[in-house]
Amino acid sequence: MEAQPLHLKRELGLGSGITMIIGTMIGSGIFVSPGGVLQRSGAMSYIELGTMFPASGADYIYLMQGLGPFVGYLYAWMNTFVLRPVAGAVICQVFALYLLQPFYNHFGSHTFTEDLKWNLEKGVTILALIALCVINCCSVKMASWLQNVLTVAKLIAIALIVAGGTYHIAMGEFEYLEQGFDQVPNTTDSASSIALAFYSGLWSYDAWNNLNFVMEELHDPLRNLNLSILIGIPLVTVIYVLVNIAYLTVLSPSQVLRSDAVVVTWGRLFFKDTSYEFLGEYVPWVASGFVALSTFGAANGTLFGSSRVSFAAAREGHLPEILSYIHSKQRTPIPSLILFTIMAIGLVLTSDTYTMIDFFSFVAWMFYGGSFLSVITLRFTGAKLERPFRIWIVIPILLTFISVFLVLAPIISDPQKEYLYVLAFMASGVLFYVPFVLKKWRIPGMNSFNRKICAVCSLSPGE
Ligand code: ARG
Repeated sequence: MEAQPLHLKRELGLGSGITMIIGTMIGSGIFVSPGGVLQRSGAMSYIELGTMFPASGADYIYLMQGLGPFVGYLYAWMNTFVLRPVAGAVICQVFALYLLQPFYNHFGSHTFTEDLKWNLEKGVTILALIALCVINCCSVKMASWLQNVLTVAKLIAIALIVAGGTYHIAMGEFEYLEQGFDQVPNTTDSASSIALAFYSGLWSYDAWNNLNFVMEELHDPLRNLNLSILIGIPLVTVIYVLVNIAYLTVLSPSQVLRSDAVVVTWGRLFFKDTSYEFLGEYVPWVASGFVALSTFGAANGTLFGSSRVSFAAAREGHLPEILSYIHSKQRTPIPSLILFTIMAIGLVLTSDTYTMIDFFSFVAWMFYGGSFLSVITLRFTGAKLERPFRIWIVIPILLTFISVFLVLAPIISDPQKEYLYVLAFMASGVLFYVPFVLKKWRIPGMNSFNRKICAVCSLSPGE
């Protein structure tokens, strides 16, 4: 019997829509290496795109509509095999690091040798990825519940930090705030270091389009996407500014820039020279715990969103068909979720994921640029399409230029072979495009294999 094509189910409301955005944006960046600007106006372009094309897959759909199927295909290719697994691997690695850090501090280096630490960190990262995969395969409700709970947890952490900052300001202690960033040694203005600085700042804001990926699971998608973006992104921006101010009440700008665990350093110094100094001992535990919760939530949102891109692209015939299957009862895209997890685990085992953030941003901004450009081209090619929301056209034009700068500046002023690898991998996608997408060639036996998988695992093709 042929399995019936199935829809994803609409299970997310406005609240879950907002946590899908802010709970994925607020992850590692603001606690580990804070900074950044910009994204707010960018996200409004995504309201226009998202409400014009309320299908799952976000940039994939927009690029396909705005710049043609080939660009959409390339995005699906890079997103499935590079962007999303890198994001998942990096965030889960930060999770593992923070979960383990307090134990390292407590038991000292004679218990935790470098080798042991390495194994533990990789092990915990992989366990986290697997746990998230299982949850997301089991149920959309459960994954979105987890997202909600963890978002509340990180908002509590933020509230504590902001309260701490307010206390210091009330006490009149804010000398670093008055200095601003003028005093930081070694500030540079070469184009490539500015672009790279943006990259790490932009990492903190990345995932602002996360809800666009899951449009088909959102109740009343037009209204809820609109509201979630308009509420979620300004909220994150305000939160980031407040947290940065709070950091600067205790730490100097160069301490902020130098620390690789700002929130822990901040917490430790917070109680210094006060009558509560003894509390400083507990701070690393509490701060690390919050960062662990926060990153776990961001990884959950990443996995949730990512799997919907491969799902949407496979449905269009741009990726192997099996990725478009969903579980007939749970309505979760299990093959896509599993592929993501395997890719992320592969990266954790083989690469230094931290240096990958730069290459992540390099690829990500290539395609964000493409999506901004799509807003512009669609004003001509899709002039008649209904647009529940219309952004002031200057914004996507400006953002297209910014994206071009962000992508080109580091390559031109500081070429590195890794950029070439990335481009080569992208080119390799073309090799598959011609036979498998254009010519619709299928590996012999694939169809009957797919059908068997469907029957055995109760999967159905997505519609
Ligand atoms: N903004 C997040 C953080 O600071 C990272 C988001 C990664 N990107 C994504 N699409 N999930 O940790």
